[in-house]
This record gives sequence, structure tokens and C-alpha cells, in this order.
Amino acid sequence: KTFLSKKWVAALAATAAFAAFPTQAQTVLKMGHVLAKGSHYDVGANVFCDTLDKNTQGRYKCQVYPASALGGEREEIEAVQIGTQDLVITSTGPVGNFVPEMKIVDVPFLFRDYDHARKVLDGKIGQDMLAKFSNHGLVALAWSENGFRHMTNNKRPIVSASDASGLKMRTMENKVHMEGYRSFGIQPTPMAFPEVFGALQQGVVDGQENPIPVILASKFSQVQKHLSLTGHVYSPALIITSPRIMNKLSDADKKAFMDAATKSVAATRKKVNDDEANGIAQLEREGMQVVKKVNSTSFSDALKGPYANYAKEFGADKLAAIQAVK
Ligand code: PAF
Repeated sequence: KTFLSKKWVAALAATAAFAAFPTQAQTVLKMGHVLAKGSHYDVGANVFCDTLDKNTQGRYKCQVYPASALGGEREEIEAVQIGTQDLVITSTGPVGNFVPEMKIVDVPFLFRDYDHARKVLDGKIGQDMLAKFSNHGLVALAWSENGFRHMTNNKRPIVSASDASGLKMRTMENKVHMEGYRSFGIQPTPMAFPEVFGALQQGVVDGQENPIPVILASKFSQVQKHLSLTGHVYSPALIITSPRIMNKLSDADKKAFMDAATKSVAATRKKVNDDEANGIAQLEREGMQVVKKVNSTSFSDALKGPYANYAKEFGADKLAAIQAVK
């Protein structure tokens, strides 16, 4: 004769199973970026979230919000700072407004090539810079990458700085860039990224400048005719979170976050390499006219005035230390 109904036996068994394997608390973090699904940032964001999930046995998960779903880059950094968003992958474009020590990396023609930029940022100079974020209510987990920026426009092919002169060009909200670009004769028009496609389409600006991975992911070939491989500035990116998240982690979980960031950066850089290798031919197929060989000296010569100001603002020794990295 049984004392308990089948229903009670099942309920007791379920309770016993719960006691043996207590459910672990799960935290779901919001990670945002402004680029399309499948872009280099998006690849990096998804690798970050997958690695974090795996490293913490599912205790930390994150949901990726691509395509400016959480706003432009400045807004997303602000949201991380005040705690309504947990993580952002962003270019350094607006970062100098939060952490002034970062502005130096936005100096045009500072980095020679991808190897140089990655070596500086992964080395002591770059790692010391990451430590500065904690004074500003933010934590930078790692340098990621946007890429070398090139100019696109709807007016004419740009070979020399004189061809760029007079063009109204959307720039990031970044004073270092704007000062440099003025010396090319460009009229810089700062604008948050979510507005850019529409502004190009409606002719509010003649052009914009961004790396190949962004030009591809944002389908700028639909609204821009000319692309010139000016490579006038390297555009780093960062994976940023907040002390609110990091301070409550165990040492093991901190390591899990750092490992996720390292793997994310590797995946982003690989996607940048792939886009650089294949993207220009794709943009030509999509109808863009590409100037592959520009007169770089005409751009670097124009920068002599701004460079005197950069040296005053950031220290000639600091600029030279970056340039000296081999
Ligand atoms: O041009 C910009 O604002 C940035 O390069 C972008 C596209 C948002 C990527 O960080």
C-alpha cells in the first residue's frame, strides 16, 4: 500500500534533484555596438559572449545589441558609465571625451601599418593607457580594432590633399581628427554614426571616412561613388565595461572576462584582415571607383601645423615613443 500519491512522489523527486544540483545564479549582460550584424565588431562581440558563457559555465551570458540598437558610440559609453548598459565595443572616436589620455591614439599618420598599431597597443604603451580608464568610472578590457580610415565621397576621385580640399565630410566627434582634416582643406562635419548613411544619401555631406570593414558592413557603396585609400589615420577600438561589473567578480571570473576579451580581439582582427584582403574588390564590384595609389606625402605635409599642436598637447616624447616601436 502506498502512502503518497504518484503526484507527490514526482514532486519530492524534483525537490531532491534541485537540492543535489542547486540552480546557479545567471547574469545576462547587455553588450552593444553600432555596426551591422556580421561586421568585425559583431564577430568580436559574439566571440566575447560565447567565450564568457563557456568560461563561466553559463553563469555569465551576454546579449549582443548590434546596429546602434542602444544608440551611437558616445551614448553607449555614457550608458556603461551610468550603468544602464554593461559592455560596449567602440572606436576611440568619442573616447577622448571620457578619458582625455586616449586622444593621442587618434593622431593622423601616427601608426605606420597594422603590425605597428597592434604592437603598440598590445605592448606597454597601450596597456598603460588601458589602466587610465579606472579614473573615469570605466574599465577597458582590451584594445580591439576598427582599422585604417579611408575617404569616400560623391564629388571626385581624391589622389592628393588638394582634391579633398573643399569637401564637406562627415567626421567622428573627435577634435584630434577634425584639426588634422582641416589642414587637408576638408570641412569636417561631426556627426554620430547612426545619422551617417542618411546624411550621405541626402547629400547633407559630400563624403565620410572609415575603414574598409565599416564601408562594407554599412553598405556605403550604395550612397558613395569614390573611394580613396588614404589610410590617413588608424582607428583603434576598445571593449569597455564598468567597475560596477568588474569589482564584484572573483579572480577566476575576472580571468574569464579577460580571456573572452582576448579571444574577441583576435576574432575582430582576423575579420579586419579578411575584409582588407577581399573588401576592395567587392566594393569595386558594387560600383565604387577606387583610387588605390594616393599621394600620401601631400597629406602628411599638410599636417605639419596640426603636428606642432599635437606635440604641445600630448608631448613630442610620447608621440616619438609610439613612432619608435618597431
Ligand atoms: O565612423 C565612426 O563613427 C566609427 O568608425 C564607427 C563606424 C562607428 C565604428 O566604430
